[in-house]
Amino acid sequence: MKKLEAIIRPEAFQTLRQNLDELGVKGLTVSEVAGCGQQKGQEGIFRGSRFEIKLYPKVKVEMVVEEQEVDPIINVITETCATNEVGDGKIFISTIDEVYRIRTGETGKAALI
Ligand SMILES: Nc1ncnc2c1ncn2[C@@H]1O[C@H](COP(=O)(O)OP(=O)(O)OP(=O)(O)O)[C@@H](O)[C@H]1O
Ligand SMILES: [Mg+2]
Repeated sequence: MKKLEAIIRPEAFQTLRQNLDELGVKGLTVSEVAGCGQQKGQEGIFRGSRFEIKLYPKVKVEMVVEEQEVDPIINVITETCATNEVGDGKIFISTIDEVYRIRTGETGKAALI
Protein backbone atom coordinates (compact mmCIF):
# COMPACT_ATOMS: atom_id res chain seq x y z
CA MET A 1 0.00 0.00 0.00
CA LYS A 2 1.14 3.51 -0.80
CA LYS A 3 0.18 6.93 0.46
CA LEU A 4 0.05 9.83 -1.96
CA GLU A 5 0.11 13.30 -0.46
CA ALA A 6 -0.69 15.87 -3.11
CA ILE A 7 -0.20 19.53 -2.24
CA ILE A 8 -2.07 21.55 -4.83
CA ARG A 9 -3.53 24.96 -5.58
CA PRO A 10 -6.85 25.38 -3.73
CA GLU A 11 -8.64 26.35 -6.95
CA ALA A 12 -7.73 23.00 -8.53
CA PHE A 13 -9.34 20.95 -5.78
CA GLN A 14 -12.98 20.65 -6.93
CA THR A 15 -12.03 19.43 -10.41
CA LEU A 16 -9.43 17.09 -8.97
CA ARG A 17 -11.96 15.61 -6.60
CA GLN A 18 -14.35 14.93 -9.48
CA ASN A 19 -11.62 13.37 -11.60
CA LEU A 20 -10.40 11.18 -8.73
CA ASP A 21 -13.97 10.02 -8.12
CA GLU A 22 -14.28 9.03 -11.79
CA LEU A 23 -11.06 7.04 -11.40
CA GLY A 24 -12.64 5.15 -8.47
CA VAL A 25 -10.70 6.76 -5.64
CA LYS A 26 -13.11 6.62 -2.70
CA GLY A 27 -11.20 7.38 0.46
CA LEU A 28 -9.32 10.60 0.90
CA THR A 29 -8.38 13.15 3.52
CA VAL A 30 -8.26 16.83 2.69
CA SER A 31 -6.65 19.63 4.68
CA GLU A 32 -6.20 23.30 4.13
CA VAL A 33 -2.52 23.99 4.62
CA ALA A 34 0.00 26.76 4.07
CA GLY A 35 3.40 26.30 2.55
CA CYS A 36 6.17 27.37 0.28
CA GLY A 37 8.49 25.62 -2.12
CA GLN A 38 11.65 26.45 -4.02
CA GLN A 39 10.70 30.09 -4.44
CA LYS A 40 10.07 30.50 -0.70
CA GLY A 41 6.69 32.02 -1.44
CA GLN A 42 8.08 34.59 -3.85
CA GLU A 43 6.24 34.78 -7.17
CA GLY A 44 9.31 36.17 -8.89
CA ILE A 45 12.81 36.50 -7.54
CA PHE A 46 15.18 39.18 -8.71
CA ARG A 47 18.88 39.36 -8.10
CA GLY A 48 20.05 40.93 -4.89
CA SER A 49 16.59 41.37 -3.43
CA ARG A 50 16.02 40.72 0.24
CA PHE A 51 12.78 38.98 0.95
CA GLU A 52 10.87 37.38 3.73
CA ILE A 53 9.41 33.91 3.35
CA LYS A 54 5.70 34.03 2.54
CA LEU A 55 3.31 31.14 2.94
CA TYR A 56 0.65 30.47 0.33
CA PRO A 57 -2.60 28.66 1.01
CA LYS A 58 -2.62 25.16 -0.48
CA VAL A 59 -4.82 22.10 -0.25
CA LYS A 60 -3.32 18.77 0.82
CA VAL A 61 -5.05 15.63 -0.44
CA GLU A 62 -3.99 12.34 1.13
CA MET A 63 -4.91 8.98 -0.34
CA VAL A 64 -3.86 5.49 0.71
CA VAL A 65 -4.20 3.13 -2.22
CA GLU A 66 -2.96 -0.13 -3.67
CA GLU A 67 0.33 0.11 -5.48
CA GLN A 68 -1.11 -0.32 -8.99
CA GLU A 69 -3.32 2.73 -8.49
CA VAL A 70 -0.39 5.08 -7.91
CA ASP A 71 0.51 5.80 -11.55
CA PRO A 72 -3.05 6.45 -12.76
CA ILE A 73 -3.62 8.79 -9.81
CA ILE A 74 -0.41 10.68 -10.52
CA ASN A 75 -1.55 11.12 -14.13
CA VAL A 76 -4.92 12.50 -13.04
CA ILE A 77 -3.33 14.88 -10.53
CA THR A 78 -0.76 16.22 -12.97
CA GLU A 79 -3.31 16.57 -15.80
CA THR A 80 -5.75 18.37 -13.51
CA CYS A 81 -3.41 20.56 -11.46
CA ALA A 82 -0.67 21.65 -13.84
CA THR A 83 -0.75 25.25 -15.00
CA ASN A 84 2.98 25.14 -15.75
CA GLU A 85 3.51 28.13 -13.48
CA VAL A 86 5.60 27.88 -10.32
CA GLY A 87 3.57 26.76 -7.34
CA ASP A 88 1.59 23.96 -9.03
CA GLY A 89 2.51 21.75 -6.10
CA LYS A 90 4.05 18.38 -5.35
CA ILE A 91 3.11 14.77 -4.79
CA PHE A 92 4.87 12.84 -2.03
CA ILE A 93 4.66 9.04 -2.10
CA SER A 94 5.39 6.75 0.81
CA THR A 95 4.85 3.16 1.84
CA ILE A 96 2.08 2.31 4.31
CA ASP A 97 2.66 -0.69 6.56
CA GLU A 98 -0.89 -1.46 7.60
CA VAL A 99 -4.46 -0.20 7.65
CA TYR A 100 -7.28 -1.16 10.01
CA ARG A 101 -10.96 -0.52 9.53
CA ILE A 102 -12.11 0.28 13.04
CA ARG A 103 -15.71 -0.93 12.57
CA THR A 104 -14.89 -4.44 11.32
CA GLY A 105 -11.31 -5.06 12.33
CA GLU A 106 -10.41 -5.74 8.70
CA THR A 107 -6.81 -5.11 7.73
CA GLY A 108 -4.78 -4.67 4.57
CA LYS A 109 -6.49 -4.60 1.17
CA ALA A 110 -9.86 -5.55 2.68
CA ALA A 111 -9.76 -2.48 4.88
CA LEU A 112 -8.93 -0.15 1.99
CA ILE A 113 -11.87 -0.88 -0.32
N1 LIG B 1 10.18 19.82 0.06
C1 LIG B 1 8.96 20.06 0.48
N2 LIG B 1 8.54 19.51 1.64
C2 LIG B 1 7.28 19.73 2.08
N3 LIG B 1 6.36 20.44 1.42
C3 LIG B 1 6.73 20.99 0.26
C4 LIG B 1 8.04 20.84 -0.27
N4 LIG B 1 8.10 21.50 -1.45
C5 LIG B 1 6.89 22.03 -1.65
N5 LIG B 1 6.07 21.75 -0.61
C6 LIG B 1 4.68 22.14 -0.48
O1 LIG B 1 4.13 22.23 -1.79
C7 LIG B 1 3.58 23.53 -2.00
C8 LIG B 1 3.77 23.93 -3.43
O2 LIG B 1 5.15 23.93 -3.70
P1 LIG B 1 5.68 24.40 -5.11
O3 LIG B 1 4.76 23.90 -6.16
O4 LIG B 1 5.93 25.87 -5.09
O5 LIG B 1 7.03 23.58 -5.15
P2 LIG B 1 8.37 23.97 -5.92
O6 LIG B 1 9.36 22.90 -5.60
O7 LIG B 1 8.72 25.37 -5.57
O8 LIG B 1 7.96 23.83 -7.45
P3 LIG B 1 7.75 25.03 -8.50
O9 LIG B 1 9.12 25.43 -8.95
O10 LIG B 1 6.91 24.42 -9.59
O11 LIG B 1 7.02 26.13 -7.78
C9 LIG B 1 4.28 24.40 -1.00
O12 LIG B 1 3.49 25.54 -0.68
C10 LIG B 1 4.45 23.47 0.19
O13 LIG B 1 3.24 23.41 0.91
MG1 LIG C 1 7.44 26.94 -5.94
